[in-house]
Amino acid sequence: MKAIQVPEGGGLDNLQCVELSQPEPGVGEILVRWRASSLNYHDYLTAIGVIPVEEGRIPMSDGAGDVVAVGEGVDQWQEGDKVMSVFYPDWIEGQANKIKTTHILGEQINGCAVEYAVLPASAVTSIPDNYSYAEAATLPCAGLTVWRGLIVEAGMQAGNSVLVQGTGGVSIFALQLAKAAGAKVYATTSSDEKAERLKALGADEVINYKKDPKWGVTISKLSGGIDHVVDLGGGATMEQSIKAAAIGGNIISIGILGGRTGEIDFPLFFYKQLRMKGIVVGSREMQEALVNAININGIKPIVDREFPLEQLADAFRYQETGAHLGKICLSF
Ligand SMILES: NC(=O)c1ccc[n+]([C@@H]2O[C@H](COP(=O)([O-])OP(=O)(O)OC[C@H]3O[C@@H](n4cnc5c(N)ncnc54)[C@H](OP(=O)(O)O)[C@@H]3O)[C@@H](O)[C@H]2O)c1
Repeated sequence: MKAIQVPEGGGLDNLQCVELSQPEPGVGEILVRWRASSLNYHDYLTAIGVIPVEEGRIPMSDGAGDVVAVGEGVDQWQEGDKVMSVFYPDWIEGQANKIKTTHILGEQINGCAVEYAVLPASAVTSIPDNYSYAEAATLPCAGLTVWRGLIVEAGMQAGNSVLVQGTGGVSIFALQLAKAAGAKVYATTSSDEKAERLKALGADEVINYKKDPKWGVTISKLSGGIDHVVDLGGGATMEQSIKAAAIGGNIISIGILGGRTGEIDFPLFFYKQLRMKGIVVGSREMQEALVNAININGIKPIVDREFPLEQLADAFRYQETGAHLGKICLSF
């Protein structure tokens, strides 16, 4: 079977496509044939060596595919079931803790850039009905992070306002989930062309953050204050995110697209009585709830482009350009 491996020190030019022998499931395990994966910034950091991984680590946290064999003692899955990976295979339910979040697919343990993998039966969930493998592969990292941020942590309700930033996989799924929940969505982007596409996807107001560097003030005036800000730019956006937020609003800190550190205007932060929650993905239980919700609301993630497994490095190079809208996937 084919697999991609990260060499010592990483580097896109050095990613290796290798042939490995197909594993067999043991007691309590399943054999999954992965059919698709999707690219996340975390995968990129492991591939280029910024997040160090063991030499030969198979990257990619997201996978969707078919159960092709079950080991002894497995009764929740059968051959032919369509499943997707869980970002933290040890975080089944409840609050996060150090033990539950020790292992991430593609970092401390092998990920999904491989044709066949043996996993504990609890390390996957079902995929939503009528989803392609590529669509399902967008959910375990980006989709679940959005679900946890807006639904589990912020308690988004119909009629609330939500701010999403940029047009990457997390932001576009946040826009779709917020619209499906009956929220009013404000979005930012660097490009007028992408602004039109955001509007076509249901964004109520779109601001070009390159043309309007004080976009947080503008959005605050337009909206009267945002109930739930999905902050993805980190150092580049937090100041304006705080300006955009309503008194009593939530800021969900998810990403660092614009930098790891930045300044916070503390008087404005406490004057507005904001809640800020930093999150990293979610549990298997939350992923099951996300799948149930999608089976009812029917939202489908936007897959910008699909690459074959062997072209993972090219897929990351495309991600580097920022030309995409939604998710970049691997299909194999
Ligand atoms: N905490 C977690 O669990 C978790 C989970 C998933 C992702 N993340 C993080 O969330 C962030 C987004 O991930 P993603 O997969 O959606 O990334 P992505 O698909 O690579 O998104 C890239 C897009 O973000 C926008 N962008 C870039 N710099 C920006 C800035 N300074 N301000 C506003 N928008 C900017 C651009 O859109 P425009 O061209 O439209 O401006 C760009 O095309 C990353 O930092 C990632 O590491 C965190």
